[in-house]
Amino acid sequence: MEEFPVLDTVRQRRTVYRFTDRQIEREVLSELLEAAANAPNHRHTEPWRFIVVRGPALARLGELRVALQLERSARDGKPAGNLDAMREEVTQASAVVYVVQHLDPDERRRGEDYASCAISAYILQLTAWERGIGARWSTGQLITSPKVRPFLGLADDEQPVCYLALGYPDEVPRPWRKRSAQELTRYIE
Ligand SMILES: Cc1cc2nc3c(=O)[nH]c(=O)nc-3n(C[C@H](O)[C@H](O)[C@H](O)COP(=O)(O)O)c2cc1C
Repeated sequence: MEEFPVLDTVRQRRTVYRFTDRQIEREVLSELLEAAANAPNHRHTEPWRFIVVRGPALARLGELRVALQLERSARDGKPAGNLDAMREEVTQASAVVYVVQHLDPDERRRGEDYASCAISAYILQLTAWERGIGARWSTGQLITSPKVRPFLGLADDEQPVCYLALGYPDEVPRPWRKRSAQELTRYIE
């Protein structure tokens, strides 16, 4: 019987929102990052950079998340929502990995590089899943706000693409009902 481990992982992976207290060892994180550095990239630009936030720095990132939300609610005149839950989104992870794009001066290359960084993040998610580690991809304020830049120590030619909150799953959500590719494919023969 043929085995297709990648296919199984692709099918089974779910975004994980709740993690246990178990910590991901640094060596395991390194292994995931090495895998993520294997994404295809045009002209071998290797546009990805990774920033790992873990340990006490996670609490600081959680506070930044809360501060950004308070700022937004004051600006928009809307309630801030559940700040504890927002803080926890960050602090309950064992590590947060930022995937950062090195910005090429050429605009077209930047588009290709963005795609490569997204693939890199997906590889990280998949290899984590294979090792029993869950991930939540985020593109919220901790990616979009300029106030994240000094926290991450970003250079002018670096732009965060997403972050992945990583940890051992406390709960795995049920699969989404996804449309079959058959519904979404046209063949031209
Ligand atoms: C480009 C991209 C951006 C995303 N941004 C967020 C986000 O900001 N917050 C969040 O909770 N999930 C985010 N997600 C996770 C998706 O919501 C999740 O992948 C989707 O619900 C499908 O679930 P699955 O990953 O279990 O298949 C993002 C995923 C992708 C690919």
